[in-house]
Amino acid sequence: MRDLAVALDVGTRKICTIVAEVRTDDIFVVGVGIEPSAGMKKGVVNDMGSLTAAISASVHKAEKSSGFDIARAFVSVAGSHIASLNSRGAVGIAGQRGVNIDDIDKAMESARAIAIPHNREVLHVVPRSYALDGQERVRSPIGMHGFRLEVEAHIITASSTSVANLEQSVQRAGVSVDRFILNPLASGEAVLTPEEREMGVVVIDIGGGTTDLAIFIEGTVWHTAVIPVGGDLITNDLTYGLNVSFDVAEAVKVHHGHALLKAVDPLETFLIEPFGEGMPIEVDRSAVAEIIEARVSELFNLVKKEIKRSGYDGMLRAGAVITGGCAQLPGLKEVAARESGFPVRIAKPERLTGMADALRDPAYSTSVGLLRMGLSMESGAPRETTTSKPLAGGGLVKALGGVFKRLLPDGDG
Ligand SMILES: Nc1ncnc2c1ncn2[C@@H]1O[C@H](COP(=O)(O)OP(=O)(O)OP(=O)(O)O)[C@@H](O)[C@H]1O
Ligand SMILES: [Mg+2]
Repeated sequence: MRDLAVALDVGTRKICTIVAEVRTDDIFVVGVGIEPSAGMKKGVVNDMGSLTAAISASVHKAEKSSGFDIARAFVSVAGSHIASLNSRGAVGIAGQRGVNIDDIDKAMESARAIAIPHNREVLHVVPRSYALDGQERVRSPIGMHGFRLEVEAHIITASSTSVANLEQSVQRAGVSVDRFILNPLASGEAVLTPEEREMGVVVIDIGGGTTDLAIFIEGTVWHTAVIPVGGDLITNDLTYGLNVSFDVAEAVKVHHGHALLKAVDPLETFLIEPFGEGMPIEVDRSAVAEIIEARVSELFNLVKKEIKRSGYDGMLRAGAVITGGCAQLPGLKEVAARESGFPVRIAKPERLTGMADALRDPAYSTSVGLLRMGLSMESGAPRETTTSKPLAGGGLVKALGGVFKRLLPDGDG
């Protein structure tokens, strides 16, 4: 049987389950289940019953379309409870021998041994770079000689309660969590080129509830952040500005929205249904663009501040890559470039085959990225040597080895 992986992207707006075969050059999609989300706000659970029902619906759809029973999945996580920091760890190398995987493992353990409040847990530990006997910026120390190995690691932590609530909701839908993966790491995996990661780039995934950021430099992740502002706030602004329901405002945004006022014809109008039983009213598209531009500008100012706070703003030679459902908003690219000062590229998942039509859309970057990211974490490839939970008895790298089947053929299949 082929090795299949399952991604479960639990978004604020949609739940997307993908069953796929992850190959070197592409991802062959065997089944997909996309359903509207419920019970999530700004990336965290606020109604477990509704969320469980939404996850179940998405998983069942993916099971039906793939013909497999889904038992486990890689699950996305975001929300403003996410925090990240960089930490250094070191280990002595005994005797005259090259560095091996156990040494890296121990150095990572020591980087990880920082004081973390009892109500938080480690989601990922990503090695950024190594130093061997003081020689900095060693990429891959395996086999190299030295007496002291140091690792500089990026550590991502999450609120234990938020993670537990998400895990409960997934489990109640009959799926166990293979691994939690931070949204922007998954999105980066789906849309960034190796050149961009090398040169320095920020991936910005603008969803319904959150804007997820990850900075990649010299091939690995150096900084991550989740900003609790997304497309829902733009829609909210339109409900007030136009005095319409959330659903009408959402439709206005998707069908007539523009983030750049000056690009909109000042004479262009369209009709909407206001609250109550009133007659349809005519709305200037420029009025809509004005509202959207204000919110999008504000969002990119927050993004810019976060990048500055990271200290890496001068190192992003490949600029910004924007994805997520809101990346489809016309004019967003221009406003993003203007406010951030970076060259901007809009991206969606590429190199998809099989039942992939619905996934070739910026809204599914996290969903698709979960597959590759999850599998590479399990194989323990040094770049992604990360862990989603404190592993009993340590052993970051060893414990991740081995890809296992997480699917059972349906019925007599
Ligand atoms: N064509 C479009 N034009 C403008 N906005 C759009 C378009 N399509 C989707 N959106 C917006 O994208 C947002 C949803 O994006 P996405 O599907 O990435 O969110 P999500 O993953 O469910 O949420 P999150 O990751 O924040 O939890 C919504 O605000 C929606 O209005
Ligand atoms: Mg999302």
